[in-house]
Amino acid sequence: MPALSRQGIDKHTIEFNVASSLLSATGLRKSFSNNPVLKDVDLSVAPGEIHALVGENGAGKSTLIKILAGVHKADAGEIKLAGRKLVLKTPQDAIANGIVVIHQELSLAPHLSAEENIFLGHFPRTGFGTLDRTAMRTTTRQLLERLKIEIDPTIPVARLSIAQQQMIEIAKAISFNARLLVLDEPTAVLDSGRVDTLFELIGRLRAEGIGIIFISHHLDEVFRISDRVSVLRDGQLTGVADITSINKDWLISKMIGRKFERHDAQARATGEAAVELMALSAPGAFEDVTFSVAKGEIVALAGLIGAGRSEVGEAIYGLRKPNAGALRIFGKDVRRSNPRYAAAKGVAYVSEDRKALGLLANRPVRENATIAALARFCRLGFVGIAKEKAFVGSSISELDIRLASMEANIATLSGGNQQKVMLARALATKPKILVFDEPTRGVDIGAKREIYRFIEMLASEGVAIVMISSELEEVLRLADQVVVMRQGRVTATLPKSEASEETIMRAASIGA
Ligand SMILES: Nc1ncnc2c1ncn2[C@@H]1O[C@H](COP(=O)(O)OP(=O)(O)OP(=O)(O)O)[C@@H](O)[C@H]1O
Ligand SMILES: [Mg+2]
Repeated sequence: MPALSRQGIDKHTIEFNVASSLLSATGLRKSFSNNPVLKDVDLSVAPGEIHALVGENGAGKSTLIKILAGVHKADAGEIKLAGRKLVLKTPQDAIANGIVVIHQELSLAPHLSAEENIFLGHFPRTGFGTLDRTAMRTTTRQLLERLKIEIDPTIPVARLSIAQQQMIEIAKAISFNARLLVLDEPTAVLDSGRVDTLFELIGRLRAEGIGIIFISHHLDEVFRISDRVSVLRDGQLTGVADITSINKDWLISKMIGRKFERHDAQARATGEAAVELMALSAPGAFEDVTFSVAKGEIVALAGLIGAGRSEVGEAIYGLRKPNAGALRIFGKDVRRSNPRYAAAKGVAYVSEDRKALGLLANRPVRENATIAALARFCRLGFVGIAKEKAFVGSSISELDIRLASMEANIATLSGGNQQKVMLARALATKPKILVFDEPTRGVDIGAKREIYRFIEMLASEGVAIVMISSELEEVLRLADQVVVMRQGRVTATLPKSEASEETIMRAASIGA
């Protein structure tokens, strides 16, 4: 097999010096119930190198780093760190050897303080064996100072923003004396300002000689910070290159194995108003928000994280109670809404936080896709399995969800494919109004285009779409109208013709 799987690997890179390698993983293989997910994959990282790992959803990126993290055991292959062969049976083994992974889903204990989180599992002890709070505080302050992280380490993590929590996770990793730090899609939850801060931090770690593996679906980020890149496709390594020797087209062709077709948006006719917000306010969330979405129209809510966009989406779906102003759905005043009522009016909602608000953990994909629309598949109180399966089957092919079977546990799907199941769920209700909060989070670039096409198709069928997105490219590509929010207020309402990166960013950051 090795000969076959190594075929087509494009080594644009200058010959890698094995002597200077920090991580050298070779011939890694992994199958899940006879389904090969990694096929003889090599990966090497030098000290002080930022190595990007890219590939489509389900390509095997997370699986690869879970092997490095001691979460999964490889079926074959070898992992060496600084020339020493490692046997990683548990995450503790990996950490003890200086390999620290920050997974796609953050894992801090929300009720503990930042410093307690940093030292969870390796608290400093006094001579009497009790917790040495003074040492913990001093070490934490030194650590945060060294990393230039400005966060009060004594407040509970639950009160920190996602970006701050991520910083604390990184500080925690460094407190374990990490030599190799692995970040699985760290920027997926950050807006552009926060991404800059994260990259500065990563840059400081690189300067200290720490090796970094960075996973991202944002290719511009890959070009911005990485030194080298490895590409996975269907569990095979298809390319390794110095970042300066390649371009975006090369990366994409290695990722998807074909040339990428551009697709331009078409103009759509829009109809009567579907959703209208008139000076709508919700305490502590947003104030005086006015905009309307017509049938067949895509309205994007743009702005920085924390601007109140998600809260507006929640209000439309009845998850958040407004205290002033009006909300109308198909011309009818909605006074006291709740998700049940909203769903009955044809509203569907895809949350940005699929883990907390969406997925039925450890249930089959089929149930996850149809839970919101069971009534549609029921007759005389029984779920019509055949009808249900037909729907799920067609969603799987329409959205190109990669999975073993529709009975597979949702937890076994890759991050991007879980996201697509959430989209399928919303569509199962045949909505007339769709609220999408970050619909393409964690989705690879090929699948993104598919989802865009899909959203446009829904709009052309008359569905009114409210899309909350932190990706400017996505907003500019899809939206007929862009509503920009800042600190809970609307700072600009831009028709497509006036929406540009500049006008949106200005309204989002300085409110003018
Ligand atoms: N615990 C598991 N059991 C069974 N299959 C799994 C398990 N974990 C991952 N897989 C499968 O392995 C494949 C690779 O998944 P992985 O999570 O590594 O992809 P990824 O490259 O990280 O994708 P994404 O960009 O969507 O996060 C997928 O087909 C996935 O369904
Ligand atoms: Mg992943």
